[in-house]
Amino acid sequence: MDWLHWFNRWEAMQNAYLPQRQHRFDLMFRLPDFPREADVRILDLGCGPGSVTLCALRHYPNARIVAADADPVLLAMGRESANERISGSTDQRNSVQSVDFILADLRDGAWWADYDGTFDLVVSATALHWLTEAHLAEVYRRVYRALKPGGWFFNADHIAADDPAMQTRYRDLLHEWQQANFDAGAEDWDGFWRGFEAALTQAGLPSQREAITYWEGSDDGLPRQFHLDTLRACGFADVAVHWQDLGEALIGGWKKQAPSAG
Ligand SMILES: C[S@@+](CC[C@H](N)C(=O)[O-])C[C@H]1O[C@@H](n2cnc3c(N)ncnc32)[C@H](O)[C@@H]1O
Repeated sequence: MDWLHWFNRWEAMQNAYLPQRQHRFDLMFRLPDFPREADVRILDLGCGPGSVTLCALRHYPNARIVAADADPVLLAMGRESANERISGSTDQRNSVQSVDFILADLRDGAWWADYDGTFDLVVSATALHWLTEAHLAEVYRRVYRALKPGGWFFNADHIAADDPAMQTRYRDLLHEWQQANFDAGAEDWDGFWRGFEAALTQAGLPSQREAITYWEGSDDGLPRQFHLDTLRACGFADVAVHWQDLGEALIGGWKKQAPSAG
């Protein structure tokens, strides 16, 4: 199984859906401005095959990363493509070995409990719109607890306009842009999964798509004001939209240092 090939196909497919996808990822690591050589502790929520994690390692080669997802096959792609990258280059050996891909449902409180106060940076891309409003609010609370004081959180995702009529316009314009990519030959989500599942079967590996029972969100994501209000209610400071293109945005905030005694 050529995992790196499938990872690259995943990237091309996702890039066809998401304008400036790599720019969003880069911003998540450039905005907090940790020293490049620092031992940054990072949590990647809904990591899929580790696209954001890979970007994290480019910015912070000494980072230690927990990459969490509920899809066993995408996690396998993340682990195996990382191994193939290692065998192609000795440079990334140490950094890639510092990634822990874990099978975890973001809605499940049990695994979060191990990580209270652990991370300098929690990031997520194109994943949290899979959750209902109640589950997303709970995830935001858990992210706050998982951060160290001074730590940052960034979520790059579908973030709907507060005005439903404007959101309809945003969606139409995004679909036009995506359709132009597909007309130019880009692979879509269903096409990717058909090809990938066939390759898994041919390699004698289970596709495990039946494990994916947790989609409960909306393609537009929740309204921007919901995100901002909920993050502030969790305690995040300087909550802001750092980048936006129609109904796509990068939002985040940070956990203030506790005031020193005296
Ligand atoms: C569109 S993919 C994005 C993956 C990756 N972050 C990227 O940007 O390429 C969405 C990911 O969110 C994961 N996801 C959605 N809901 C989840 C949940 N409740 N728990 C864990 N992972 C979840 C899916 O399994 C999938 O891998």
